[in-house]
Amino acid sequence: MASPAPALLTDDADPSFAELLAGRPHLAQHAHDGLTMEEVPLARIAREVGTPTWVYSAGTLRRRYRALRDALDEAQLGAEIHFAVKANPNLAVLRTLAAEGAGADIVSEGELRLALAAGIAPAHVVFSGVGKTPGELRFALSRGVGQINAESAEEVAMISAVATELGVTADVALRVNPDVDPKTHAKITTGKSGNKFGVAIEDAPDLYARMAATPGLRPVGVAVHIGSQITAGMSAYAAAYRALAELVLALRAQGLAVERVDCGGGLGIPYRHEPAPAPAALAGAIRNTLGNLGVKLMVEPGRWISGPAGVLLAAVIIEKHTGSRRFVILDAAMNDLVRPAMYEAWHGILPVSPADHVAPVSPCDVVGPVCETGDTFARNRGLPRLEPGSLVAFLDAGAYGAAMSSTYNARPLAAEVLVDGARFAVVRERQTQEALLAGQRLPAWM
Ligand SMILES: Cc1ncc(COP(=O)(O)O)c(C=O)c1O
Repeated sequence: MASPAPALLTDDADPSFAELLAGRPHLAQHAHDGLTMEEVPLARIAREVGTPTWVYSAGTLRRRYRALRDALDEAQLGAEIHFAVKANPNLAVLRTLAAEGAGADIVSEGELRLALAAGIAPAHVVFSGVGKTPGELRFALSRGVGQINAESAEEVAMISAVATELGVTADVALRVNPDVDPKTHAKITTGKSGNKFGVAIEDAPDLYARMAATPGLRPVGVAVHIGSQITAGMSAYAAAYRALAELVLALRAQGLAVERVDCGGGLGIPYRHEPAPAPAALAGAIRNTLGNLGVKLMVEPGRWISGPAGVLLAAVIIEKHTGSRRFVILDAAMNDLVRPAMYEAWHGILPVSPADHVAPVSPCDVVGPVCETGDTFARNRGLPRLEPGSLVAFLDAGAYGAAMSSTYNARPLAAEVLVDGARFAVVRERQTQEALLAGQRLPAWM
């Protein structure tokens, strides 16, 4: 059992190690093996692959995909699930989800190439994003993507030009901005007026009618995505979907065909004490607002499926004390997991060794070696004394983790590993120092 978190750490205490484990069934502490994912000790992965390393649980990816699938099916929505590749573009992760029947929501040519390489049919791909280039549209249309979500009148014109040039008809949905507040971090709010995304809902009827008369296009429906890490109940979703339903009826009253509604992603996960929104609640919000329109429904979750399935495994370089503060310095840094620096995000941190799991804890700041004070993963976190080489795991790092990492401070990209039962495999090699430098050139005059 974990030692109780010391009083006075924070006003509302962090979850204990035991509480963190209880909500994450793919992780367990064993008296001999320490922290395991499914049946694989994380210490073994660290030994064989090194650190820092991202580790994903295939079983959790499947379990969460199926839970969402079941909730949508029980609500009799027949909705298609397009995994938001931006959350985790690892090929083995995508292949695991593709094998479950997932399609893909993509925002770049690179993500489309990954989705196709993972075995997702082009018809099962939706191309989202506020700034697709003509080159990316050309690639997507030549591969036959199932839907392009247009975000502006200017982009509609661009899609039309590219489709006409290729002699194809693009199935286009119009992404609208419903001006609702999803009550999440400002940097990941996407459906408020003033955000760059979509067209104002009041402009949508006119633009949709113009799309119907635009060469190379077939307007197939409407789309919305109001933000990410939404844990504050379903009211913002319901408001957005009600607005979409009214829009669909208004478009149909104009004699325009609306076959599809793309409900976006954004379902949040509990990193610390946040409520855990149930997929059934989302399915209910969709059913109550859009369920009777006779449209093909789609959702685009990323974080909810892959977030809890991953950890970032890191090793302690050294502990240092300056003044009254205790710093645990890891070999992972903000270039690996940027969410704490970027969004003030909280991630659970569990010691891997069985002895560290039960040792008394005291407050420390958990930091990386990057030369910025922002390279701080946690402040005043209760952790045991950690010797150099001790391992820790950052929880819920399977979404917007490796996907957002960089090589800042000339630090190679970390390895990625997939665990499936008692097996594990490296699914992305650690970037080598040579690969990090490859591509740099000195100009001829130097
Ligand atoms: C258009 C679109 N769809 C889906 C997602 C996935 O969001 P999440 O990972 O929060 O489910 C995003 C991410 O912001 C997005 O921009």
